[in-house]
Amino acid sequence: MKVGVPKEVASGEARVAMTPASARDLQKLGYTCMVEEGAGAAAGFGDAEFRDAGAMVVTGAAVWGDADVVAKVQPPTETELAALSRGQTLISFVYPAANEKLLETARDNGANVIAMDMVPRISRAQKMDALSSMANIAGYRAVIEAGNNFGRFFTGQITAAGKVPPAKVLVVGAGVAGLAAIGTATSLGAITYAFDVRPEVAEQIESMGAEFVALEFEDQQQDGAVTGGYAAPSSPEFREKQLEKFRELAPEMDIVITTALIPNRDAPILWTRDMVEAMKPGSVIVDLAAERGGNCELTEKDEKIVTDNGVTIVGYTDFPSRMAAQSSLLYATNVRHMVADLTPERNGEVVHDMEDDVIRGSTVTFDGEITYPPPPPKVQAIAAQPAKARTREQTPEERKAGELAAFKEATKRQVALLVVGGLLMLLVGSYAPASFMQHFIVFALAVFVGFQVIWNVQHALHTPLMSVTNAISGIIIVGALLQIGAVHWVVVFLSFVGVLIASINVVGGFLVTRRMLAMFQKS
Ligand code: NAI
Repeated sequence: MKVGVPKEVASGEARVAMTPASARDLQKLGYTCMVEEGAGAAAGFGDAEFRDAGAMVVTGAAVWGDADVVAKVQPPTETELAALSRGQTLISFVYPAANEKLLETARDNGANVIAMDMVPRISRAQKMDALSSMANIAGYRAVIEAGNNFGRFFTGQITAAGKVPPAKVLVVGAGVAGLAAIGTATSLGAITYAFDVRPEVAEQIESMGAEFVALEFEDQQQDGAVTGGYAAPSSPEFREKQLEKFRELAPEMDIVITTALIPNRDAPILWTRDMVEAMKPGSVIVDLAAERGGNCELTEKDEKIVTDNGVTIVGYTDFPSRMAAQSSLLYATNVRHMVADLTPERNGEVVHDMEDDVIRGSTVTFDGEITYPPPPPKVQAIAAQPAKARTREQTPEERKAGELAAFKEATKRQVALLVVGGLLMLLVGSYAPASFMQHFIVFALAVFVGFQVIWNVQHALHTPLMSVTNAISGIIIVGALLQIGAVHWVVVFLSFVGVLIASINVVGGFLVTRRMLAMFQKS
C-alpha cells in the first residue's frame, strides 16, 4: 500500500506530515511513500531529500488519487475531501466538534478519517499524541516570542555598565504547553512563577525550577477537580481568589504566558484589562489560548498589539508552524506511529481495528459512518492521578515544637534500647568470665556507636563518614598488629583477618577519595 502526503494548502501553514526520516521508517513498515512536489520546502525538507529517502515525489493529484493512506497536517478542505474515495484512509488534524460538515462529506464518500487531535491521552498513545507535541513546541516558542518582544535580558547580570535584574515570568496553566514554557523560561535564567487549578501539578512546576503560586483557598483540592487529567471549571469564589492573586502579581511580572484551557470550552478570561493596565511598560503577554478566545481580555487572535501603557500582547495561533522544521519532525513521527498501529503485521497493509482503544478513539468516520464522538477509552487517562495534599508551610513555632517532639521520641527509644541492652549484659555477665565481659562490653559499645553513626547520619554525610571509618580501621590495624605475634593460632588468625580487612578499607577509602577529588579537578 502507499502512504502519500500532499502539500498543505492553508495559508501560512509551513508544516508537512512526512519527513525524509519518517519516510524511511514507513518503508520499513512495508509502505511505498509518495510526497507532493515542494510539500516539505517550507519546513526545510527538499524534494531531493525525500527522493534520497526512497520516497516518490509526485503531483498533488497523484497523492490524493493513488495513496491508500493520505497524511496531512491541517483539516482537509472540502475540495481535498472530495478527492478521497471509499476505502482510502486520511490521517490529519480534524477538530471534529467544530467540523461537522467535513465529517458528513467524509461519510458520504466512504473515506476512513483518523483525527490526530482525538488520540486519547493514555500511556500507550503518547507517541501518537500530536496535540502534546505541538503544545510542547508552542510553549517553547511562546517564551522565545516573548523574549523577542521584550527589551531586556531574561537572566540577571552584573556588568561594568550596571546591574540588570532578572526578568519575572508568570505562566498560567501548567499543562503540556505551560510546562514547556516554564522549562524554557527557567533555562534562560528568568525567575519563573506558575499557576494551575490542578494542585497536583505543583510538584512538576517546582521540579522544573519555577515557583508554584499557591492560593489560600480551603477547597482548592476539590475545586480544581480532575477529570481524566484535565481541569474542571472553577467555582466563582475560586476564580475571584485567583484573579485577586493575579492582580497582586501583575505589576511585578515582566512576561505573562497564558495557556489555561479546559477542552471543548472557551478559554477562561484570567488576565483582565486592569491587570494589563497595572503591568510595567515593555512587559509582554503571550496568549496561547488565543484560538479559543484567549485568557487575556485584550488578546486579538492572530495579532500582536501594543496597549496604550506599552504592554505587548501576542495572540498568534500558529506557533508550531513558526517552527516548522521541528514540528514537522515531531508530527511526522506521531503520524508514523499511528500508521504503525494500523499495520499490526508490518506488511504495508492497513488493518483498521475498531477494537483498538487508540484507533477507535481517533477514528471520526469509518466505512460510510460517522464514528464521532467515540466511547470513553477502556484504559484510564495517564494524567488522572489522585491529587496529593499540599502541606501548608509551618510557622517557626510549629517547626520547633515538631523538632522537640521528634527529639523526645528518639530519646525515649534510645533509653529503652540501653535498658534492654543493660539487662542483657547483666544476664550474660552473671555466667561469663570477667575477661570475656571486658571485651564483650567494648564490642557491644562499638556495635552500638557504629550503628548510631551509620544509620542516623544523612546520606550526604556518608563521604566524611568514610574518612572516620578509615581512621577507625587504622586503629584496628594497630590492635591487630600488636596481636599478630601471639602464641595461640586463633589469635594470630583473627589478627591476620583484622589486618587484611582494615587494609582493604584504608586503601579503598583513599582510592575513592582520590576519585572524588578528581571530579572537582579541571582536565
Ligand atoms: P493542557 O490541557 O495540557 O493544559 C491546559 C492547562 O490549563 C491545564 O493544566 C489546566 O489545568 C489549566 N487550566 C485550566 N483552567 C485553568 C484556570 N482557570 N486557571 C489556571 N489554569 C487552568 O493544554 P496544552 O496542550 O498545554 O495547551 C494549552 C493551550 O495552548 C491550549 O489553549 C492550546 O489550544 C494552546 N495551543 C496554542 C498553540 C498556538 O500556536 N497558539 C499551539 C498549541 C497549543
